[in-house]
Amino acid sequence: DTTPRMRTVMTALIQHVHDFAREVNLTTEEWLAGVAMLNWAGQMSNDKRNEGQLVCDVIGLESLVDDITYREASKADKPPTSSAILGPFWRADAPVRENGTTITFNTPKDAMVAYMHGQVTSAETGKPLANATVDVWQASTNGLYEQQDDDQIDCNLRGKFVTDAEGRYSFYCLRPTPYPIPFDGPAGKLLKLMDRHEYRPAHIHLIVESEGHRSLTTQIFDKDSKYLEDDSVFAVKDGLTVEFKPRKEDSKAEWDLEYNVALAKK
Ligand code: DHB
Ligand code: FE
Repeated sequence: DTTPRMRTVMTALIQHVHDFAREVNLTTEEWLAGVAMLNWAGQMSNDKRNEGQLVCDVIGLESLVDDITYREASKADKPPTSSAILGPFWRADAPVRENGTTITFNTPKDAMVAYMHGQVTSAETGKPLANATVDVWQASTNGLYEQQDDDQIDCNLRGKFVTDAEGRYSFYCLRPTPYPIPFDGPAGKLLKLMDRHEYRPAHIHLIVESEGHRSLTTQIFDKDSKYLEDDSVFAVKDGLTVEFKPRKEDSKAEWDLEYNVALAKK
């Protein structure tokens, strides 16, 4: 439907696209190359691959939209945990799992296991939020999310955890490793044209939700990872790097990660 907002957005979009074409004296060949790239992205996309989003991400658009969205929230007296981009690999249908269980089912030999745990609180009051959902997903050590990789079982390295009465959640996962974004399509071609690499620093994705609060989509980054300064999709922000510490007396994990989340009121 045509709403006033729609008019505002479309009018500005067309104005800026025209200004861009005038500024660079866009040629017919260049414009057609852009059209071909859009079509290629569309043809490559399916339920396992979101190439349109990937193209937006390598030019920093998803990250910019995230910054714009977070700007309001960060003005609060007690700001919530920083957000970050969703990226193309979230799945709506991840299973709910018990706290203290694992999300890594076919754990690669070269993988390091971590125990991740923490508390979800209200940013405003500091009180714990029981029954909050912590939805997590991460790539395996081969750089692939389970939907990209036939060797991983369905929903490997993803799951939803529900916080207990003290707002606590916990699970075993992999200490993440850096990996390349898919490089065989238009997003990869754009990176090559710009002389940029395709790597992302080691990260874990999270969506945290609690009734009456704003949903938080974020990523946390291993502070010892490569590529923190030049993430190919510009997701790294202050406050999102975390420290994995050696975990003692747990035969199931060599690393420990405490990560607490504060949510803003709706
Ligand atoms: C992107 C984000 C990711 O988290 C990832 O693993 C790969 C790509 C992206 O924003 O394009
Ligand atoms: Fe990712």
